Amino acid sequence: RGRPRSGSDTMAPVMPENLILVGFMGAGKSSVGRLLARRLGRCFVETDDMIIAREGCSIPEIFARHGEAHFRAAEEEALSGLRLKTNDVIATGGGLPCREGRMEDLRALGTVIWLAGDFDALYERALRAGARPMLAGRTRDEVEALCRSREPFYRQADLSVDTTGLGPDQVVSRILGALAAREQAAR
Ligand code: S3P
Repeated sequence: RGRPRSGSDTMAPVMPENLILVGFMGAGKSSVGRLLARRLGRCFVETDDMIIAREGCSIPEIFARHGEAHFRAAEEEALSGLRLKTNDVIATGGGLPCREGRMEDLRALGTVIWLAGDFDALYERALRAGARPMLAGRTRDEVEALCRSREPFYRQADLSVDTTGLGPDQVVSRILGALAAREQAAR
């Protein structure tokens, strides 16, 4: 049933190419991605890190010096750079998938996984860790509206995992379970 298989049928599930994590700030894309990569023996790449390396300064500095539009253009370049990646785990910035055509571009690179969660849990986590220019100067309601406006993009992912109340380790287990189930279904 399904697509033809080559080689042994008894080995571990065939993992798709890149695994790409998307989701709102605070979803745990970095910590989950790092752990998932380690579990699978893959390299871990973050689009924010690609941008920081290229621009030579931090994300808050990029926003402060050049504005959001410049950062979004840098994300487009980072996305182009991802075309060279194979078999990696890739964490994207929260806003990267949220433009016309971006989810299609990401899905062409591998399996896209949405780390979803209750807004309050995401917001609390996002406030706690790291400086995030998209949170600065916005009220909670404004950030929630931003989150809702992005959901139609995230929803186009191949898989989604609800991270509410889970630690990175548990999220990784759920991702691996979902990937194995998907592989099984495709047989
Ligand atoms: C952003 C999210 C950030 C970073 C930048 C913009 C956003 O990444 O790319 O500050 O627009 O949501 P995280 O999702 O890793 O916080």
